[in-house]
Amino acid sequence: MTASYEVRGAIAVITMNNPPVNGLGYATRCAIAEGVDRANADAAVKAIVITGAGRAFSGGADIREFGSPKAIAEPNLLSLILQLEASAKPVVAALHSVVMGGGLELSLGCHYRVAAPGAQIALPEVKIGLVPGAGGTQRLPRVLGVETALNMIVSGEPVKSEVLAAIPGQKLIDKLVDGDALAGALAFAAEVADKRPLPRVRDLKAKHANADGYFAFARNTVKAMAKNFPAPAKCVDCVEAAVKMKFDDGMRFERDTFMALMLTPESKALRHAFLGERAASKIPDVPEDTPQRKVEKVAIIGAGTMGGGISMNFLNAGIPVTILEMKQEALDRGVGVMRKNYEAQVKKGKLKQDKYEQRMGLLKTTLSYEDIKDADMVIEAVFEEMGVKEKVFKTLDEVMKPGAILASNTSTLDLNKIAAFTKRPQDVIGTHFFSPANVMKLLEVVRGEKTAKDVLATVMALGKKIKKTAVVSGVCDGFIGNRMIEQYSRQAGFLLDEGATPQQVDKAIEKFGFAMGPFRMGDLAGNDIGWAIRKRRAVEHPDMKYSKTADLLCEMGRYGQKTQAGWYDYQAGKRDAIPSKVVTDMIEKHRASLGITPRKISDDEIVQRLVYALVNEGARILEEGIASKASDIDMIYLTGYGFPLWRGGPMCYADTVGLFNVVHAMKRFAQNPRDDQAFWQPAPLLAKLAAEGKSFS
Ligand SMILES: NC(=O)c1ccc[n+]([C@@H]2O[C@H](COP(=O)([O-])OP(=O)(O)OC[C@H]3O[C@@H](n4cnc5c(N)ncnc54)[C@H](O)[C@@H]3O)[C@@H](O)[C@H]2O)c1
Repeated sequence: MTASYEVRGAIAVITMNNPPVNGLGYATRCAIAEGVDRANADAAVKAIVITGAGRAFSGGADIREFGSPKAIAEPNLLSLILQLEASAKPVVAALHSVVMGGGLELSLGCHYRVAAPGAQIALPEVKIGLVPGAGGTQRLPRVLGVETALNMIVSGEPVKSEVLAAIPGQKLIDKLVDGDALAGALAFAAEVADKRPLPRVRDLKAKHANADGYFAFARNTVKAMAKNFPAPAKCVDCVEAAVKMKFDDGMRFERDTFMALMLTPESKALRHAFLGERAASKIPDVPEDTPQRKVEKVAIIGAGTMGGGISMNFLNAGIPVTILEMKQEALDRGVGVMRKNYEAQVKKGKLKQDKYEQRMGLLKTTLSYEDIKDADMVIEAVFEEMGVKEKVFKTLDEVMKPGAILASNTSTLDLNKIAAFTKRPQDVIGTHFFSPANVMKLLEVVRGEKTAKDVLATVMALGKKIKKTAVVSGVCDGFIGNRMIEQYSRQAGFLLDEGATPQQVDKAIEKFGFAMGPFRMGDLAGNDIGWAIRKRRAVEHPDMKYSKTADLLCEMGRYGQKTQAGWYDYQAGKRDAIPSKVVTDMIEKHRASLGITPRKISDDEIVQRLVYALVNEGARILEEGIASKASDIDMIYLTGYGFPLWRGGPMCYADTVGLFNVVHAMKRFAQNPRDDQAFWQPAPLLAKLAAEGKSFS
């Protein structure tokens, strides 16, 4: 049973029991409805208490039912709430731990609510591009006042029960009890068992002294903040309806708004990302109950750009770190950068001084492997050269205790080769952090041919612990993210050859929603990195074509922001990208040398060519099993590459456009005499799905 029923004295207790957070799935709703009927039919019962077992009252809708017919099967949540509201015997909700979404809406259908302190109360639907759909926008303003309710609905952020209970005149929490919510609710229910009439939230009024002015202000503020997301402004509309319409009309308005938002690409994208984050941690052949190794002590090799940032993640999670370097100066420099980063957070008020000291207290530095041999996990972040990695891994193999996880942060090298430097390849794994590693959410976890399942399971769980979005990638050049971005960069180069300027390309893709266009990105990361990769490619894949412009740029010494000159000009100490006459001249000269007459390229074409380049390579990656599902690719692009969240990632976006249309556009690009025809050969998986009218999801 997903909800149990028992009678204690004259009180019936219905306990939702649907781990992990008592999601209101079909079976749970049925069980609650049955319990309410049973209590009403039992003459010995005078009142009903509803609570949740375990770690939550209820976290709301059961995400496993998302989009399935079960989600709306009767009794749906709206019907269940009506049943509670109409119960002839008082219903008391015992709120504790987590009271969110449908869980909060359910409690608002009860006659009374008793809460334990510390309960996290929220209507988070806006975070998946929706408004609450079971009366939340109509009932919450009636019990909390319009402004508090709207703030909660529009932000989706949880507020603690004791904070809400302290709001003067609030009617959300009838009693805040010390300790156990159920015990408190039972006592409360006994007190009110005979009290009539039964209070109903729907009978209260949601009022505002200056409603028109307030909602106009709220709408402007929310629109400015939400930009590409329609749901927040719709939250304002719904709360306004709670003030201006009769209750039942407001409910219909909320329902219609909810249904319309459900169909928007923005909500689809947000739901995709929400589910994608959860799905990323599930690996097809690694069961969830795979035993994990303990990771209580971490060692990092290399205190450079990445080593320092990676260390901070572990210190922030309370895990002691020892950093090893070749020279004391390198250690001092690395630790100095970490301190600077923390101090900036302290200055901004984001980190308390004592927390900062606590974290730095967990850090040790060393020049000797002797000091790290007991670490449970070691992450190598030394220079990106196979020879250097070889030395490090051979040493690690000699000194580290048996069972220690040996990870490499390599971004391009073959992890299987690195693993083969040791006699324990099963313990070797890739942890590809992104720069700045203390900020970026993405962690590509690279699974080598021989990586043991428990090592993989441990690192995925650790990723969660250090608050990263961990996504598994197989071994290939560039792994998932960089392998795809290379195709995107190649297209960006071809666009220059054909007539576009760096600023036009950047503007077009930034308008589409990317945080930064390819050329501004290149200037930030350093154009010399791509240059080095292309030189290597020229040897390994001599047939791979690139625009020459990026090499010409590097030959001019224009590496990007670090040389104050790249695709753009930069002024000392500033990051503004200023279009460069020198670069335009270089591109034009190069075009002329190829005999190309520049043509006007539309922003649409730019966006399609860049994004479909990602999609096509993504399809190959899926086909080869480097990624196990399309949503993994999307999570990588949303969390590591600045792909617009409201578009859900490249694969989700392609699904929204329709794969047939994507392939059609690719065929058109292939006819462009300047473009690389092989480039636009649809990946077999993409061609197949498009032909069958299917999607990646
Ligand atoms: N910088 C990035 O954006 C980025 C992103 C993802 C992954 N990576 C990868 O992370 C690794 C490190 O990159 P980085 O940018 O931090 O480089 P970096 O040059 O900033 O730092 C490397 C550090 O390693 C130290 N080192 C070199 N050999 C060593 C050895 N044998 N023993 C101990 N310390 C040694 C160096 O002294 C230096 O401090 C590389 O594999 C790189 O490909 C870098």
